[in-house]
Amino acid sequence: MASLAPTLSSTISRLTHLHKPSLHSAITTLKNFRFKQKLSKRIRPFINSSPSSLSAHFSSAQMRSTVGSDDDLVVLGIETSCDDTAAAVVRSNGEILSQVVSSQADLLVQYGGVAPKMAEEAHSKVIDQVVQEALDKANLSESDLSAVAVTIGPGLSLCLRVGVQKARKLAGTYALPIVGVHHMEAHALVARLVQGELQFPFLVLLISGGHNLLILARDLGNYVQLGTTIDDAIGEAYDKTAKWLGLDLRKSGGPAVEDLAREGDANSIKFKVPMKQHKDCNFSYAGLKTQVRLAVESGSINPEIPVSSASSEDRKERANIAASFQRVAVLHLEEKCERAIEWASKIEPSIKHLVVSGGVASNQYVRARLNQIVEKNCLQLVCPPPKLCTDNGVMVAWTGIEHFRMGRFDPPPPTNEPEDAVLDLRPRWPLGEEYTEGRSEARSIRRARIHPSLTSLIQASMQQQS
Ligand code: KG4
Ligand code: ZN
Repeated sequence: MASLAPTLSSTISRLTHLHKPSLHSAITTLKNFRFKQKLSKRIRPFINSSPSSLSAHFSSAQMRSTVGSDDDLVVLGIETSCDDTAAAVVRSNGEILSQVVSSQADLLVQYGGVAPKMAEEAHSKVIDQVVQEALDKANLSESDLSAVAVTIGPGLSLCLRVGVQKARKLAGTYALPIVGVHHMEAHALVARLVQGELQFPFLVLLISGGHNLLILARDLGNYVQLGTTIDDAIGEAYDKTAKWLGLDLRKSGGPAVEDLAREGDANSIKFKVPMKQHKDCNFSYAGLKTQVRLAVESGSINPEIPVSSASSEDRKERANIAASFQRVAVLHLEEKCERAIEWASKIEPSIKHLVVSGGVASNQYVRARLNQIVEKNCLQLVCPPPKLCTDNGVMVAWTGIEHFRMGRFDPPPPTNEPEDAVLDLRPRWPLGEEYTEGRSEARSIRRARIHPSLTSLIQASMQQQS
């Protein structure tokens, strides 16, 4: 298998010591004439520096002001970390020029969840088309782009690989710089695209199929993890509830449960709120899932019969379970958010916003309940529109823009990169370090890490340069 310096964000990944140092490739590739031309408007003074001082310039304050003041970047974002193949073109002034998402709904129904190999095949089938459509809708060609941003983790490596290969091919062919993006950071930062005046620091709740995170965003690339899930994420609990209730999974389970819950009595079943006794900001949804399964099994529901064909009595029973589940699942979020607000205000007394993002944040009940908590604590809730909460290319392009402005990017990959090149994929990649008070004693938190956190990499890189 061919090996190459597999970096996507040179300032970040140089520190991972994965393969050959990327600085060498950065320097050689930076000599690429076309790339120089592309960057000339923005960072000419820096690429003319001597090679040995190049890395120091990549995220210097000077670089920041030079690149940051240029508001004419156009970035293509590519996202394939899970089951959606997405691409978008975004301008650095926040204008979304195009957005395309191809979802694997049929596969989800067929396999009752994401099957990595099937998902990889599905991404491979549509990736070219999705990217082309994003460019066409934006009325642009590849050579009009300033950079390509792509999710490199966390996620399923088979799936990440499809997006990263596409991004590298395109960036290599058109001599474009490339930015490797953290999927969860992208979910958080898209709020800054939506609400231009959203300044650091702010608190973030990220709720999706695989993640349940409470993060204090202190600055770009500087995150403190206040809480995480010790087992399942809330989205997974929604999806399983939908499956056990025989709901239509084509739009994913969450929206189906949300719809049916509107017809039910949320107080009819007294599910237990998870982790009441844990005075931390961590989450657990595995127990609630089991409670729902037992409730379904002990009732007269037959999930083989789709809810659309169920008798009105049966439908009511399912709606009651959906509503009761949702009430408790969200109550768990509310309790942990209240504590996180307390903690975050101690660390950063100036916080004014709670950002809620990730697929589950598109849920209206979730938004309404969290809004109450936020108002009670004199903060403001920022929720991106539903299309930007679920996986999308816009959030990746925008995060690419934010880091590109800071000088955190890689030069174009070589045009002749072999298909089987070893790529820098980060399936398990924490966003920030755990807040000490938040360390859970719960044994099921999986600690094995493949990569150091994004925050620690960026901080180490900045220290090296100062
Ligand atoms: O962020 P996302 O699109 O993908 C991941 O990174 O996981 O989140 C997908 C999750 C799924 O579990 C889906 O059921 C859930 O978000 N979801 C919802 C809603 N829309 C999507 N959950 C509850 N209510 C919704 N309206
Ligand atoms: Zn996501």
